[in-house]
Amino acid sequence: MAEYGPESNVVERTPRWTRAQASEIERGPDDVAPVVYPPAEQDAPEIHVWDTWFLRNRDGSIAEIDGHRVIFSLTAPAELLPGKRHDVATVRYFYSADGETWHCGGPVFEDGTAFGSRQWAGSALYDRDGTVYVYYTAAGERGEDELSYAQRIAVGAGGRVETTADGIAIEGSFDHEVLLEPDGTRYEREAQSSGMIYTFRDPWFFEDPETGETCLLFEANTPVPEGSDAGDGDAHHQEFNGSVGVAVSENGDPTEWALDDPLLDGVCTNQELERPHVVVRDGRYYLFVSSHEHTFAPGIEGYDALYGFVADSLRGSYEPLNGSGLVVTNPAGAPFQTYSWVAYPHREELLVSSFFNYYDLRGLSLDDVAALPPAEQQRRFGGTLAPTLRLALEGTETRVLGALEHGHLPLPDEELPPLLSEYRSDEAGRGEYRAPEE
Ligand code: FRU
Repeated sequence: MAEYGPESNVVERTPRWTRAQASEIERGPDDVAPVVYPPAEQDAPEIHVWDTWFLRNRDGSIAEIDGHRVIFSLTAPAELLPGKRHDVATVRYFYSADGETWHCGGPVFEDGTAFGSRQWAGSALYDRDGTVYVYYTAAGERGEDELSYAQRIAVGAGGRVETTADGIAIEGSFDHEVLLEPDGTRYEREAQSSGMIYTFRDPWFFEDPETGETCLLFEANTPVPEGSDAGDGDAHHQEFNGSVGVAVSENGDPTEWALDDPLLDGVCTNQELERPHVVVRDGRYYLFVSSHEHTFAPGIEGYDALYGFVADSLRGSYEPLNGSGLVVTNPAGAPFQTYSWVAYPHREELLVSSFFNYYDLRGLSLDDVAALPPAEQQRRFGGTLAPTLRLALEGTETRVLGALEHGHLPLPDEELPPLLSEYRSDEAGRGEYRAPEE
């Protein structure tokens, strides 16, 4: 097992999103998404919907079952204050024949789960034999009276997709198992963390197309012993220690995992590298994470945004996309309108899904919103899928091209509307549509 002293440690070996790189983060014409307005109609107005993932095949492609695709979302009753939703989050599934209108099939785990008091984000595998594996974060303790923040990576294995008169349904009993817990050396345990809430969550199934290796990526934190050099020659802000972790399944079994060293860290830069996932394009590995304005270490001004990194292999030396890592953010005038982005390949482009978060804030901070009367908080929370973004990707550069409808998730072979114009924004986040760039 590796030692984590100043000389030989994971802190020094792991590719880093450095303070210098993140200091370059600045809104520009290529990364600001168009302003989001509420959809004309919500698919499931009775629930808040946020972090979402797709039922995917082993190769990462979106599964299509009897003409339907399936997504999973964290959900909570819509009457609950939006800020309270994380405390009761439940995974529900939705299916769609056209990728635009989604029908709620209900909670995916009918009988609840064996672990945790609530479920946080994950991913879902539709294996070759038709078995459904739903990976999730078991947060808190089962049956707890007072909310706690323990996090373990778990799976519900054994579901099946059945065709029904109306569409499809996820049936069968799921076997629940805790797959991974932090080891305290590569990945910080709750008791080791100082400062902000620690993270060990958001499992993402990934099979490497080049090596065939079966992996589970996740969000974590790197333990940095106090007083040790964090590797930047900068011993400050070590409590901001987000990382992207990885576990490996030697034989490809979707329930057998062993922790490996992290793929990337943001030590001294950012505390939360959320919902990590990889897109492989032209033999290069694009690693994406979501992060928040408030989780950057002091001295760095970042945004609620999708950040990305590229390397020549899964364990390569990642460099940030667009210099700073910033890929997609919200307009300056609506800085919290969307969050929790997931990028996936579509022909020459990438598509990026996310959820519609807080809007119409007119300069209010999220703390200000939490102090408003309940109806005012509810009015400003989207709680549904956001418009899917179209993104150009060339080498280490990305560019927002425009948006599809709320929650539109086209299959790879589906044609998208022609891009008659591209969305462009100035630094203040004021956007307009212009003729597409060559
Ligand atoms: C991102 C996130 C995830 C977590 C979930 C909990 O939106 O913080 O990391 O699983 O929200 O609601």
